[in-house]
Amino acid sequence: MRRTKGRRSGPEQSPNKTSPVPRLTEAASFRIIFRLSFATGEPVRLDPNLLRDHRMRRPFIAGNWKMNLSHRDAVRLAEEIHERVSGIPDRDVALCPTFVSVTGVAQALADSRIQVGGQDCARTDDGAYTGEVSASILKSTGASVVIIGHSERRHVMGETDEVVREKMGKAREHGLRPILCVGETLEERKSGRTLEVVERQIRKGLEGFGGADLTETTIAYEPVWAIGTGEVATPDQAQEVHAAIRGWLKELGGAIGEDIRIQYGGSVKPSNVDGLMAMPDIDGALVGGASLNADDFATLVGFGNG
Ligand code: PGA
Repeated sequence: MRRTKGRRSGPEQSPNKTSPVPRLTEAASFRIIFRLSFATGEPVRLDPNLLRDHRMRRPFIAGNWKMNLSHRDAVRLAEEIHERVSGIPDRDVALCPTFVSVTGVAQALADSRIQVGGQDCARTDDGAYTGEVSASILKSTGASVVIIGHSERRHVMGETDEVVREKMGKAREHGLRPILCVGETLEERKSGRTLEVVERQIRKGLEGFGGADLTETTIAYEPVWAIGTGEVATPDQAQEVHAAIRGWLKELGGAIGEDIRIQYGGSVKPSNVDGLMAMPDIDGALVGGASLNADDFATLVGFGNG
């Protein structure tokens, strides 16, 4: 049933055995660290944990097209992206168009490894909910992934942690792999509440999730102040939160917590992707603006190979 390539198939397997492809080769990790250190003038930092973690989780880059692109343009962009990323090995890729283009994009990508996702799903099963799209209907249109709790849904549409939790449950119930978005607002960061807010969102969003559900989940840490603003968290700022998330995931899922991928999202671009991806707990990216350009998105997917 699962379409993800190269992912571990269950919590009973050991991470080292089931991660067939490293996140970055050791040489690539060294190259990035060296390049960063050259650019910043800081001494070369070789963190053995970084190399260990990089071998365990396959990077996952997802494009969130938000409410952009006509149906025709969405299909065309999917085809362009397919062309450009098909030669890039060792990466998982997903594209999340608007609901109405999921089927067309899924058909266009039928022969590719690119997964297709929705940007949201309803908190209920099918029924009298005008305008909503349930997880089961989304699945039937060709989606295998769904973004849940994006900050635009939380802060523009007023979704609470409880609504996000319900949607996470529906996604899993109907066999979709959720990307759970978490992140603090600028005000929350300024008042020193970042970790408190993100911890609450993580614990609530994953409430009731057992081993298999956790295995199928990706977390996206997206500081609200960095989304669509051009303001990107520094690699260290992002890593601090990602490391905290890793700790909570291990508390909730034991060894599985080590394998769950944590994407960073918020103004990820070709110019900043390598620095972010070199961090030990950053396992990919959820990309808005830059995913609307095939060249930029392909560069993000192929990060570290430049
Ligand atoms: P951005 O959006 O890359 O345009 O900042 C990211 C997101 O909202 O997922």
